Amino acid sequence: MKIISVVGARPNFMKIAPFVRAVERHNASAAADGGPRLEHRLVHTGQHYDERMSRAFFDALDIPRPDTDLDIGSGSHAEQVGQTMMAFEKVIRQSPPDWVVVVGDVNATCACSITAKKEGVRVAHIEAGLRSRDMTMPEEINRLVTDRLADLLFTPDELSGANLRAEGVPEERIRFVGNIMIDTLEIHRAQAEALSVDSIIANNRLEGGTEQRAPVRLDPSQPFALLTLHRPSNVDRRETLEPLVRLFVDEIASRTPLVWTIHPRARKQLEEFGLWDDLLSCPRIVLLEPLGYPETLKLNMEAAVVLTDSGGMQEECCVLGTPCLTLRWNTERPITLREHGGVSVLVGNDPGHIRSAFNEAMAWGRQPVRPPLWDGRTADRIAEALAREK
Ligand code: UD1
Repeated sequence: MKIISVVGARPNFMKIAPFVRAVERHNASAAADGGPRLEHRLVHTGQHYDERMSRAFFDALDIPRPDTDLDIGSGSHAEQVGQTMMAFEKVIRQSPPDWVVVVGDVNATCACSITAKKEGVRVAHIEAGLRSRDMTMPEEINRLVTDRLADLLFTPDELSGANLRAEGVPEERIRFVGNIMIDTLEIHRAQAEALSVDSIIANNRLEGGTEQRAPVRLDPSQPFALLTLHRPSNVDRRETLEPLVRLFVDEIASRTPLVWTIHPRARKQLEEFGLWDDLLSCPRIVLLEPLGYPETLKLNMEAAVVLTDSGGMQEECCVLGTPCLTLRWNTERPITLREHGGVSVLVGNDPGHIRSAFNEAMAWGRQPVRPPLWDGRTADRIAEALAREK
């Protein structure tokens, strides 16, 4: 059976790495018992291309170099989706696979699902069924389109399966396999534990440590908070971003040192709105370049509280037990919320909400939670399910 799997942007890499390993394991046992092989090719659309947003993850997660790189780069959504479709169509026509495997909800996921279906190739979606019900979110559109087209839908939790059933997806297409991100977390847990927070900070200061005017050293005996921010709904408008920056600089950082790993989109907007210098000169905010996977995991393991608008970090907080303030008004991952037994609360981007939730969350303490099948073995279940298909 021939499979092409697709990655495009940073959150995809943590999801494809264990899948590639599971295909290798499947082929090793197929070789031993004479079973059918999975012939696998990896395509990178190139939506993320910076060393720190892409290549570093291939190295750290031991993902083989892509067989094909489409080099799409940045652009508007229509440009990214359109160019990915045109380039991916050629890849499929050159050597049609039996299946295209897509992960997550980025533009590559949607573009390659549409292209594959139009070329008569079956689509499998890893991380199917997540719904924020927020149609202003580009990822929600990507999720809806991908799941409507997919022939096999691998869900991370029972709530996602219920979403798909409510939308009329036939039962035989839905496979509850667990959360593949947690496979990656468990593979890298020991490596992350062995890292030192001080070295992570020293090695990842913005532009080699020359830029920030007031370098901050974290006192190992004092708690710190970890912040990530990149959603258009949080960073693209000055009216939203400015009050958030004021809250971080004037209030949160004065209570607890704040380690902020800066996404390229957020940095661009902070500079455009003239907020960058305020951050650089705040003595209790540690600004870091986008971090590698084990480094982010280590900071998450040590942080007293995580503030984030990343879906993946919400899930990692759940398994590591770190109190998590989700800087969004909705989530496609309700299983991570405290009301569903998780560790996260939705605080949106209103400073008042964030302030009071932050004060509460500092007292919650670490409470790891492991939803069903978030056991580190999701990728094997997926590879075996695919191998059973004709
Ligand atoms: C994308 C995904 C989002 C995911 C996020 C993780 C979609 C719709 N969005 O958002 O779901 O959570 O990745 O990072 O697919 N840039 C660089 N270097 C890069 C890539 C981007 O500097 O390697 C800058 C460019 O200025 C670009 C901007 O970041 O215009 C935004 O990148 P883009 O890929 O369009 O979206 P993300 O915000 O990263």
